[in-house]
Amino acid sequence: MWFFYSPNIIFGEDSLDFLENISGNRCFIVTDKGIEDAGLLRILTEKLDKYKKSYTIFNEVIPDPHEEDVMKGKEECIKYAPDLIIALGGGSVIDTAKVIWCLYEFPEYNIDNIQINSTELYEMGKKVNLVAITTNSGTGAETTNVAVVSRFENNIWRKVFCMNKGLVPTYAIVDPIFTKNMPPKLTVSTAFDALAHSVECLVSLWGNEFSNALSLKAIELIFRYLPIVHKDGENKEARDMMHQAASISGLAFGNAQVMLAHTLGHTFGSLFHIHHGEACGISLPYAVQYVLNDPAETSDSIKIYSKLAKQLGWAKWTEDDKKAAYKVVDKIKELQKELNFPSSLKETGVSKKDFEENFKALISLCFQEATSVLVPRIPNKAEFEKLFNYAYEGKDIDF
Ligand SMILES: [Fe+2]
Repeated sequence: MWFFYSPNIIFGEDSLDFLENISGNRCFIVTDKGIEDAGLLRILTEKLDKYKKSYTIFNEVIPDPHEEDVMKGKEECIKYAPDLIIALGGGSVIDTAKVIWCLYEFPEYNIDNIQINSTELYEMGKKVNLVAITTNSGTGAETTNVAVVSRFENNIWRKVFCMNKGLVPTYAIVDPIFTKNMPPKLTVSTAFDALAHSVECLVSLWGNEFSNALSLKAIELIFRYLPIVHKDGENKEARDMMHQAASISGLAFGNAQVMLAHTLGHTFGSLFHIHHGEACGISLPYAVQYVLNDPAETSDSIKIYSKLAKQLGWAKWTEDDKKAAYKVVDKIKELQKELNFPSSLKETGVSKKDFEENFKALISLCFQEATSVLVPRIPNKAEFEKLFNYAYEGKDIDF
């Protein structure tokens, strides 16, 4: 027995208009100042005005949201007593809104109570619904049952994972109007996050036929439309397809989970404040190589990635599985190169001195990461050290 979780998804041009049909006239909007400054909040508030819905705005979300800010949002939400919560933004905003939603429904709870086995949270939505409107084509947070919050503990920022099916938003609105002016660098970084979600969850130990089908479609769309949108950010069809691809990836990994590229990316990203999509996208080919190099005869990774390469026409169906599987690594690297995306952690600008000084903390964080649990080949300490050193220098994984 297994489960598939999904919000009600409204996608494509003008999908924001669906707000008219969603019950609730007193809206608590969770967003950030960047979204406001970019004029995206106005697009939403104009619709709410049009549909005669009142609202208040909590715009204090920061990237990698801090626990105390999330708790502040909860207090403001309780004070306003909305009958609908709307998240407008990327992963940090939507994650914050999910936790606020949860703590609004269960005010006696704190972040540590939001666990996978907290069955009482399955009743989420009794008080209000959550509408998640995504403004980037990457995190897929609008579709998933996960929220990540940063907590300062033992002198470092650590990511706290909240996971529960109750966190799946009631509605996800995937309207490309919000991405039409997204800068090229952010477009590529967020797309590499989406790509990492789909490529990784194919070999996750929770991978299943539903998530596999979604991953395949998302990878196909990203390889097809990301180069187009990179060249021409105003291409409406490509923007729409990338926006859909990111949500499809979100559904895939939300129901199967990610693995090592996210372990490396989360830890490196949180220590050195590197964009999540950039850190995970750089780590992706190294993670895939490491999994493909698995000496265990029981490993299915070669077969899985070989099938992907063949399905997408990157290898002939008659080609040897091992050779075909490594083409997935080649294609990711080619895409990185084509889009001027960094191919090593060094290229993020983190100096060797900073990297070495934080190395111990980096490795220690890997063992606190939920993302390393469902990996088909789990690295030990020495292997994590090597993985980081290779990814930093841009060396192919040969172990
Ligand atoms: Fe991600």
